Amino acid sequence: MAAQGLSPGDPSSFARPDEAEVSSVSLYLDVDFERKVLCGKVDLTVDKKKAEVTHVLLDSKDLNIIKVTGHGSGQVLEFSVGENISTLGSKLEIKLPSTTEMRLMLSILYETDVNSSALQWLPPEQTAGCKHPYLFSQCQAVHCRAMFPCQDTPSVKVTYTAEITAPPELTVLMSARRVGIPTIMPGGLKLHKFEQPVPIPVYLVSIVVGHLESLKIGPRSHVWSEKQYVEKAAYEFAETEQMLLAAESICGEYVWGVYDLLVLPPSFPFGGMENPCLTFVTPTVLAGDRSLADVVAHEISHSWTGNLVTNRNFEHFWLNEGFTVFVERKILAKLYGEKARHFSAIGGLKDLKDAISALGENSPLTCLVPDLRGISPEDAFSTVPYEKGHTLLFHLEELAGGPEVFDPFLKAYITKFKYKSIDTDDFKKFLYEYFPNNSLLKEVDWKEWLFKPGMPPVIPKYDTSLQEVCTGLCIKWMEWDAVAGGPCPFKPDDINNMSSGQVREFLAQLLEENPLSVTKLQTMENTYKLNSMGNSEIYFRWLRLGIKGRWKEQVDRALEFVVAQGRMKFVRPLYR
Ligand code: BES
Ligand code: ZN
Repeated sequence: MAAQGLSPGDPSSFARPDEAEVSSVSLYLDVDFERKVLCGKVDLTVDKKKAEVTHVLLDSKDLNIIKVTGHGSGQVLEFSVGENISTLGSKLEIKLPSTTEMRLMLSILYETDVNSSALQWLPPEQTAGCKHPYLFSQCQAVHCRAMFPCQDTPSVKVTYTAEITAPPELTVLMSARRVGIPTIMPGGLKLHKFEQPVPIPVYLVSIVVGHLESLKIGPRSHVWSEKQYVEKAAYEFAETEQMLLAAESICGEYVWGVYDLLVLPPSFPFGGMENPCLTFVTPTVLAGDRSLADVVAHEISHSWTGNLVTNRNFEHFWLNEGFTVFVERKILAKLYGEKARHFSAIGGLKDLKDAISALGENSPLTCLVPDLRGISPEDAFSTVPYEKGHTLLFHLEELAGGPEVFDPFLKAYITKFKYKSIDTDDFKKFLYEYFPNNSLLKEVDWKEWLFKPGMPPVIPKYDTSLQEVCTGLCIKWMEWDAVAGGPCPFKPDDINNMSSGQVREFLAQLLEENPLSVTKLQTMENTYKLNSMGNSEIYFRWLRLGIKGRWKEQVDRALEFVVAQGRMKFVRPLYR
């Protein structure tokens, strides 16, 4: 028996798709800003896997389930909601009507809770325009169950449609194609229709409602945001189509039709989220110089790795994120050269070291494939699946014989597993099927790579040429004797001649050294003006450097920064 009635195939879900599996979802919801709830109904198509199955098991969390009926027949169906298990919510067990049909339709009348963990309801004051309320969802990893009853396991894929009513002055978007033009309903609300014909895990269902505008940035792309950000966003993400084309040449055809970007209010907790057709991004990537567009390259990559080839459960999250970082850096290589790819990988490796030393090098959560029984995927979240996963793939690429042979493998892997949900063994098996005669690959110590905590067993030798100027400047600052006096050897051009990625790397290297004195930090500010940096990644590291050096003035700036935006990557380390 799985613990607490959880699925044997997914430690984070109550669903039993091996008995009865949901294959499509239709949402009919009203967005009620007064009560801060979504209310209405969801229709589910359920496929029984065996004739004798009597119940379907769903995930739910803080939902008010009003009534369940057999769709079509209208027959009222019995249901029970199990005990609430903290972050995972409750099992929802529905008795199926007795019929010989293997495919059934259910209708569930329900509403969400004001405190739904999937939804952020922002009052007008928390938006840029300060006039209209705003709603956005974030379902990954296990919050979709707090938006509608579903099989909230990535082993299940569904198509979905939605009909959403909302106040007429607001725009509604979802991770789907828009169907028709929104129409005004008799009561004055506006009705918006959507359709996602590609099967997806439900963690990719998403919704945003706000006073939004859009600008076209490419043949299949618009940026959406409040008016205040939209021009800046259009400029920042102007390279989107180039990235999509590069990604298609690496991964194969883009199947989702449109690729739009939504810039959220600053409380959005992530850098980006790969909601299909509509990537969500934090406004902290609006640096003004396109320097943080690697977040877009990352989310674009998920259109294949993650959204087409999906981890079967979140223990195999590295198949989503490690592969996506790998593809993201392949895009960098295509657009800016192989050296840029290596430079980014060096930065990633440093983040991995930091994450592992913060978690503890023996922490089970530093395993590439962790055991998530009894652990919520949210608590397990770290850079490990991203960067340890990338390191493994880079290592395999080298063993296989380099990009010339590994690039075609990557494409074949995506072709083989698209529209499916897989685990690490599926990947491994395919790797050896594809490279049957490669003796180097046979020597990979999988046990160590997958199940041993700590740093990866092999660290690739990355090309350091773009990193050298950062290291040079870092050493110069460390060695400079600020107290002995003499002319200051630093000048603004030290960093003006670097790429912003290099400035970020320079600060990251300083962060690994002993704290800088306040005098040095002040000199650095006078020379480089880092306090007025628009690039949030640079500013974040600069603030940490100040705090580490116990420079009191920076504490106020850091506090200002952590309340001005809610991106967890920045907020958590600064509070710590
Ligand atoms: N899918 C993730 C975000 C996520 C992961 C949300 C797990 C909830 C649970 C997204 O693709 C991502 O990785 N975002 C990164 C940015 C990226 C450039 C590494 C982030 O938010 O920092
Ligand atoms: Zn990602």
